[in-house]
Amino acid sequence: MEKTLIFMFPFCLLILSCCAAHSPPISSPISSPAPAPAPAYVNLRKLLTVAGPFHTFLNYLESTKVIETFQNQANNTEEGVTIFAPQDSAFSSLKKSTLSNLTQDQLRSLFLFHGLSHFYSFSDFKNLSQLGPVATFAGGQYSLNFTDNSGTIHLSSGWTNTKIISSVLATDPVAVYEVNKVLLPEAIYGTDIPPTPAPAPAPAPETVSAADSPAELTKSGKSPSSSLSSSSYRVIGLSAWIYFVLAISGGIVLML
Ligand SMILES: *[C@@H]1O[C@H](CO)[C@@H](O)[C@H](O)[C@H]1NC(C)=O
Ligand SMILES: *[C@@H]1O[C@H](CO)[C@@H](O)[C@H](O)[C@H]1NC(C)=O
Ligand SMILES: *[C@@H]1O[C@H](CO)[C@@H](O)[C@H](O)[C@H]1NC(C)=O
Ligand SMILES: *[C@@H]1O[C@H](CO)[C@@H](O)[C@H](O)[C@H]1NC(C)=O
Repeated sequence: MEKTLIFMFPFCLLILSCCAAHSPPISSPISSPAPAPAPAYVNLRKLLTVAGPFHTFLNYLESTKVIETFQNQANNTEEGVTIFAPQDSAFSSLKKSTLSNLTQDQLRSLFLFHGLSHFYSFSDFKNLSQLGPVATFAGGQYSLNFTDNSGTIHLSSGWTNTKIISSVLATDPVAVYEVNKVLLPEAIYGTDIPPTPAPAPAPAPETVSAADSPAELTKSGKSPSSSLSSSSYRVIGLSAWIYFVLAISGGIVLML
């Protein structure tokens, strides 16, 4: 009995290590601690529902159907997508008429303006800041300027200056970054809503800085999910451990 156990033990370990090494487990009876690898498909609706709060942003993406455009691009793993998601508070600090006075087409352009048709990791923005205006999903003159200010990435839409507060998700092909302002494109607001009735030539800074309260910015300590990489380390660690035990028990068997 004892002998069979000794022979069975390394055999079981061998099976276990095979299962652990080749990740898709074929419903093994031993509940493997190794989690499945990252899914290629990211459901943006779900992501924006649980992160944030981005409820207002998501509602606008739904009503303008821009969510379909972004999701379609997210599914397109060749290029991927980068989305700048303003917090709910960014919408509540806008004047009511800022969005409600837009036509449906303008509203759609404004939300398309919150996405780039390529996946950019956080470090890619350093390069983008060298390139000058970057085209958004809204196309044409709807472009954003990026500036890297010692590690903080600032975005300028002409009307809005904001910065990336945190990264909600940055795993190729989908990047979602939290920003603290709604991006108002120059292409829409360029001459339409001067903040004062007087024909002041440079109106942008006053209106823009009004909502720039840094106090509410950094309350969320979210970090890009690093659980994926740590879980793969666990898998490697586990198989290494198994081979070690296997070698030891093999040695014991040989000595008997
Ligand atoms: C994205 O892919 C998912 C899963 O394959 C699919 O259910 C969904 O309809 C796709 N959405 C778009 C907009 O392509
Ligand atoms: C928004 O539209 C309303 C009604 O159409 C109008 O009274 C108001 O002046 C507009 N506001 C701006 C800022 O254009
Ligand atoms: C960014 O620029 C550096 C050098 O300036 C270059 O080596 C790197 O490949 C660039 N990265 C991207 C994503 O373009
Ligand atoms: C972006 O920067 C260029 C100059 O580099 C400037 O001409 C343009 O107006 C800027 N656009 C925005 C939207 O800030």
